[in-house]
Amino acid sequence: MKKNKLAIVSDHAGYILKEKLLRYLLKEQYEVKDFGCFSEESVDYPDFGHPLANAVATGEFDMGISICGTGNGINMVVNKHPGIRSALCWNEEISRLARAHNDANICSLPGRFISESEAYLIVKTFLNTEFEGGRHKRRIDKISLKMY
Ligand code: RB5
Repeated sequence: MKKNKLAIVSDHAGYILKEKLLRYLLKEQYEVKDFGCFSEESVDYPDFGHPLANAVATGEFDMGISICGTGNGINMVVNKHPGIRSALCWNEEISRLARAHNDANICSLPGRFISESEAYLIVKTFLNTEFEGGRHKRRIDKISLKMY
């Protein structure tokens, strides 16, 4: 099975987890681009989240992983981009449902609130769960704002 082309990003609060996930994904033979940040020095998550979201939205990457302290800030940023469906995934089942029901293309993680082993499980599940389509396709097609 062809592996997804991935993009990963974090702010300083997610940096350590990003580095661990990056190593894990490369070991699992994924092609991954690191969108930063590159140290634990304080940064502003929108500066890093927007470029990643743009690259996923344009189709350069199949999926993204975005991490900040709570997961909320970076999740809000990436979801501003048309075509992005980012889910805040804080356990394995939420992650599975984000793919199966919401066809999420970005997995947002709360770096300060999950363990390393939880993060591996969440990401592994996200990357290996197929969208179920059917009634869920009808629903996700209604997410984008249209001019009514
Ligand atoms: C950084 O201190 C923290 O505010 C940020 O990582 C994130 O949790 C924001 O939503």
